[in-house]
Amino acid sequence: MKKMLLLGAACLLSIGAGAAHSSKRTANAVERGHALFEYHCASCHGPGIGNPGHPWRTGTEALQVKYRGELPALLAERKDLTPETVAYFVRNGVSIMAPYRKTEISDADLAALGAYLSRNNPDFAKK
Ligand code: HEC
Repeated sequence: MKKMLLLGAACLLSIGAGAAHSSKRTANAVERGHALFEYHCASCHGPGIGNPGHPWRTGTEALQVKYRGELPALLAERKDLTPETVAYFVRNGVSIMAPYRKTEISDADLAALGAYLSRNNPDFAKK
C-alpha cells in the first residue's frame, strides 16, 4: 500500500513537472536575458548618470526625450515591449545605437533579451 502511494505521488509529481516545464523555460530565458541586458545594453539603457553633464545614460536620456515620461525611459521598466520590437531595434539599430550582428548577439540570445524586456508585457509575460 505504501508503495502504491509512493508511485501515485511520483506520477502526480511528473505531471506537475510537465506543466511547470514551459514556465520554467520562460523563467530561464528571462534570467539569461537579464544578464545579457546588463552586459550589452545597460551601459546606455540602465539607470544612473551618463556622460558629464548628462543626468541619465544615453539610451535612457534619448527615450526620456522621445516619450516625455509617457512611457518609462528605462527599457527594463517598459510594459509595452514585445520580443519582435526588441529584435527589430537590436538587429537594425537606431540613432547612435548600432545594429548587433548575429556573431555579437545570437538569435537565441536575442530571444532571451526579448523574453526579459517583454516580461512585464501582459500579452507576453505568461507565454
Ligand atoms: C550606445 C548606446 C546604446 C546601446 C549600447 C544600446 N542602445 Fe538601445 N537605444 C539607444 C538610444 C540612444 C536609443 C533611442 C534612439 C531614439 O532616439 O529613438 C535606443 C533605442 C532602443 C530601443 C527602442 C525603444 C523605443 O521605444 O524607441 C530598443 C528596443 C533598444 N534600444 C534596445 C536595446 C537593447 C536590447 C540593447 C542591448 C542589446 C541596446 N538597446 C543597446 C542607445 C543604445
